[in-house]
Amino acid sequence: MSDYQSLFKQELKEGLGEEPKRISSKWFYDQQGDELFVQIMQLPEYYLTRAEEEIFKTQTAQLAQSLTGDFETFDLFELGAGDGQKTFHFLRELDPKKYTYRPIDISSNAVNKLQGAVSFEFPNVQVDPIEGEYFHALEHLKSDRPKAILFMGSNIGNLLDERANEFLKRLSATMQSGDTLLLGVDLKKAKEIVLPAYNDSAGVTAAFNLNVLQRINRELGGDFDLRNFEHAPVYNEEEGIAYSYLRSTKDQQVTISAINGYYKFSKGEKLFTEISRKYDDTALEVITRDTSLELTDRFFDGEHLFCDAVYRKR
Ligand code: AVJ
Repeated sequence: MSDYQSLFKQELKEGLGEEPKRISSKWFYDQQGDELFVQIMQLPEYYLTRAEEEIFKTQTAQLAQSLTGDFETFDLFELGAGDGQKTFHFLRELDPKKYTYRPIDISSNAVNKLQGAVSFEFPNVQVDPIEGEYFHALEHLKSDRPKAILFMGSNIGNLLDERANEFLKRLSATMQSGDTLLLGVDLKKAKEIVLPAYNDSAGVTAAFNLNVLQRINRELGGDFDLRNFEHAPVYNEEEGIAYSYLRSTKDQQVTISAINGYYKFSKGEKLFTEISRKYDDTALEVITRDTSLELTDRFFDGEHLFCDAVYRKR
C-alpha cells in the first residue's frame, strides 16, 4: 500500500471521529479532483486564477528580476504546482541554462502531466518533479544551490494562520540567505465577490467538494450516497475566511470498509472540508512572523483582487 493511502486512512479515521466531522481539503486532488479544479480555474466566478495570471502575464520581467535577478544558477521550486499554466509565463522569461524546475504536487497525476507539458513547451529546461504534500516536500528543499520558491494560487490559504506560520517557518529554515519566495494570496474582499467563487452557478465547485466522498468510495470502500450530501460554503467577511462544508440532507449511516468505520450523519449536519483564507497586511504579517523572511516586493492585478508577495531570506 502506498504511503499516501495509509496517511489518507489515518487522517480520515481521525477527522470523521471528531465532532464536528472533518476531512482535509488536501484529499480533493485525485485525477477527478484535478480535472474539476482545472474547470474551477476557468469559471467566470473564480476570479483568483485570472487575477494571478494577469500579474504573471503583465509583470513577468519584474517578477523574474525580483525572484531570480541575483542568481547565477538556481533551483526553481513550485509548491502545489497543479497544471502550471501561470508558471509558463514565468518560465518563458528565464534562461533555461540557469535553472532546474522542480514542481511539487500531492497529486501524482498532476506532476506527471506537468512534466510532460513543460518538456514539450520548454525542451531545454531541466524538469525534476517531486510528488508529495507540502510538509513532506520540505525535506526535498534542502539543496546547496540558491533557490526561488513559488507558492502561488493562494494555496497557503488552505491552512489556518497558525499552521501557515508553522509551515513558512519550516520553509524558511530550508532556505539560505538571499533565497526567495513568491507567495500568491487572495485578498480580503466583499462577500458578494468571494462567495460566488466558492459556489458557482454551474455547480463545478459542488462537484469538486463532493468528489472527496466519491474518492473515499473508490479507494477505501466507502458507501457515501452523494445524493444525500450538498455543497454548503460560507464566507465570513470580517475574518476573511471562506469555509466549505458538505451538509447531510437526511439522517443516514455510512461505512468505510478500509478503516472499519461506521459513521452516523444527522439531517443538516455539516462535514467540514476546506478553509480558503483571504489576506490583508495584518494576516500576511501574522503568517510570516518569526520566519526571517523579509518582504521585498508586492505585485497586484489591476483590480487589486490578488497579490503576489516576494520575500527574501535574511
Ligand atoms: C487551490 C486552495 C487555492 O481555496 O480557492 C477552489 C481550492 N476550493 N474552489 C481555493 C478551491 C474550492 C483553492 N485553492
